[in-house]
Amino acid sequence: MSPTSTTLDTTTSVLGAPVPRREGREKVTGAARYAAEQHLPRRAHAWPVPATVARGRVTAVDTAAALALPGVLGVLTPYDAPRLGPSDDPTLQLLQDLRVPHRGWYVALAIADTLEQARAAADAVRVTYEAEPHDVTLREGHPGLYTPEQANGGYPAHREQGDPDAAFAAAPVRVDVVYSVPPLHNHAMEPHAATADWDAGSGHLTVYDSCQGTTVVRSVLAGLFELPEDRITVLSEHVGGGFGSKGTPRPHVVLAVMATRHCGRPVTLALPRQHMAAVVGHRAPTLHHVRLGARPDGTLTSLTHEVTTHTSQIREFVEQAAVPARVMYAAPDNRTTHRVTALDVPTPSWMRAPGETPGMYALESAMDELADALGMDPVELRVRNDAATEPDSGRPFSSRHLVECLRDGARRFGWPGRRPPRHEGPLLIGAGVAAATYPVYIAPAGARAHARPDGSYLVEVNATDIGTGARTVLSQIAADALGVPLDSVSVAIGNSSLPAGPVAGGSTGTASWGWAVHDACSALTDRLAGHHGPLPAAGLSASADTTQSAKQKSPYARHAFGAHFAEVQADTVTGEVRVRRLLGVFAAGHILNPRTARSQLVGGMVMGLGMALTEHSALDPAFGDFAERDLAAYHVPANADVPAIEAHWIDEHDKHLNPMGSKGIGEIGIVGTAAAIGNAVCQATGRRFRELPLTPDRVL
Ligand code: MOS
Repeated sequence: MSPTSTTLDTTTSVLGAPVPRREGREKVTGAARYAAEQHLPRRAHAWPVPATVARGRVTAVDTAAALALPGVLGVLTPYDAPRLGPSDDPTLQLLQDLRVPHRGWYVALAIADTLEQARAAADAVRVTYEAEPHDVTLREGHPGLYTPEQANGGYPAHREQGDPDAAFAAAPVRVDVVYSVPPLHNHAMEPHAATADWDAGSGHLTVYDSCQGTTVVRSVLAGLFELPEDRITVLSEHVGGGFGSKGTPRPHVVLAVMATRHCGRPVTLALPRQHMAAVVGHRAPTLHHVRLGARPDGTLTSLTHEVTTHTSQIREFVEQAAVPARVMYAAPDNRTTHRVTALDVPTPSWMRAPGETPGMYALESAMDELADALGMDPVELRVRNDAATEPDSGRPFSSRHLVECLRDGARRFGWPGRRPPRHEGPLLIGAGVAAATYPVYIAPAGARAHARPDGSYLVEVNATDIGTGARTVLSQIAADALGVPLDSVSVAIGNSSLPAGPVAGGSTGTASWGWAVHDACSALTDRLAGHHGPLPAAGLSASADTTQSAKQKSPYARHAFGAHFAEVQADTVTGEVRVRRLLGVFAAGHILNPRTARSQLVGGMVMGLGMALTEHSALDPAFGDFAERDLAAYHVPANADVPAIEAHWIDEHDKHLNPMGSKGIGEIGIVGTAAAIGNAVCQATGRRFRELPLTPDRVL
């Protein structure tokens, strides 16, 4: 690991100091308890039954054999499961009707004394179907394709300025290319799991859930089970990763609650890894038609990015992959658009930097092809096309230091420019560059701060730490705002009874929860300043709610930027590509904790490496489901695949963000990584591959 680019002075400010994770010891000693590890007395287990057809209807469920097995407490089916209340997310309307919208959709739930008994009971359930022909194959020209009103994130699906087709036809230098990104899966280390405990006596539901935010889980469960929110407590003290797949409540938590209400005992449901591909979402496949027209000096005159993607039969989910092109480069004539078709596939969902990750792979690969066509250094091409204002909206950027990231990265990396590739025996060595961007989102949050007579402080905010270090950085924000030593502050998170907070998603967490923590601690500081004499036994408290400030529309376009550099080797004998070096430089505002921030950025880059070289979820056209059902088949990078990775950042001061001056860092690390690697492979081999991942069969 390389040192960071910042010089740390921990004596002056706790904000910006490389504080170690607060729960690190609990995690490495195994003391930290995750959702499935809540060993409540009389705990039972549930195991769901996935549909084995890709489209059709359930015609019968025979539970007799399952119910006769030892320890079985019940089998719920669409015929007898309790009716659920409304929810915005149709993927949570489980066991409510006989329709099968995709293979892997749950059609029954077995509940038993032990995990093994529940699994055996699920295996013994006999489901018969009326199957219909299915279609899971996305392709250009699919008759079901349409342009939706909006892509994800509320972005208009279609934007057009000027006459991009005429401008492209008239451009002296043109690139007209199609890229393909396959479906991808988040596959967090901890599978989706919940332990639910319905206390019929008090009418209170307690749920330990592996999720990215318990406030939303509570409100969705309240709707589905028609309970007031104050009779539900959702806890998620530790979460073993999510990457977006736990950003919305998932089937496991709904089924766990059904099960505990059915048997009157606490029930744990941990999804088997083999089920996850079909029920917790995936990054939808995207086809990208990118056309760039430029003058001989590299100035873009026309830019079109047209994205084709899929969604499921039950929910419109449109990966907003053309949206980053609206932020990156100014071309007076441009079009960015999305088309989608509903196939008989599992419902896609959020995966780290949704939109930006596939979109910037395509755009930044096309920029590299344009640099080749121009005979221009790809760093210089990006500098030439840096935008003074946000191209789509015309708004000024609150800060945009893309050029600084490119220049600093080129210097640190030892960017070779357009020099020919090197050879080492059968290995071809090449280098590539790509830019990155990710929006600054902010969500309303609440927080409370207490001062105790013994000089300690408690800060409460319903944040979730999915492995990022959120708990730690929030304690830094609190200590900084209170002007007290870090170890006098404890932070309570991961509990829906705390002041409401948004999910750990969209790289919003630190900014959103942190703003509320900052405000609560500032208010408490004011109260303490006005208080004379010793504190009362109950201490003093102050609260904050950032709904007003967080919802205020900024006149600025706010985005983080970055630049990735990759060095690869391609083996001319085996076709194997290996990444030798990755280096990223980011402009993401004030980095509040260099240690946890670097871990986020490097983690994103590792995920981008996997996307570039090995990760691929194939939809089997015959069975209509994902073929890769475990980590033996779905290849995430292992330690041996991960080379020296450096994440640096520039010292960015942006006053238009939040009181801490921070931008999100959870997602930008993955954005652009795959393009930088792909561009390096092209430089090494002289061949352009436009389909990910770059597996040996494609490269050889
Ligand atoms: Mo992230 S995909 O916004 O949880």
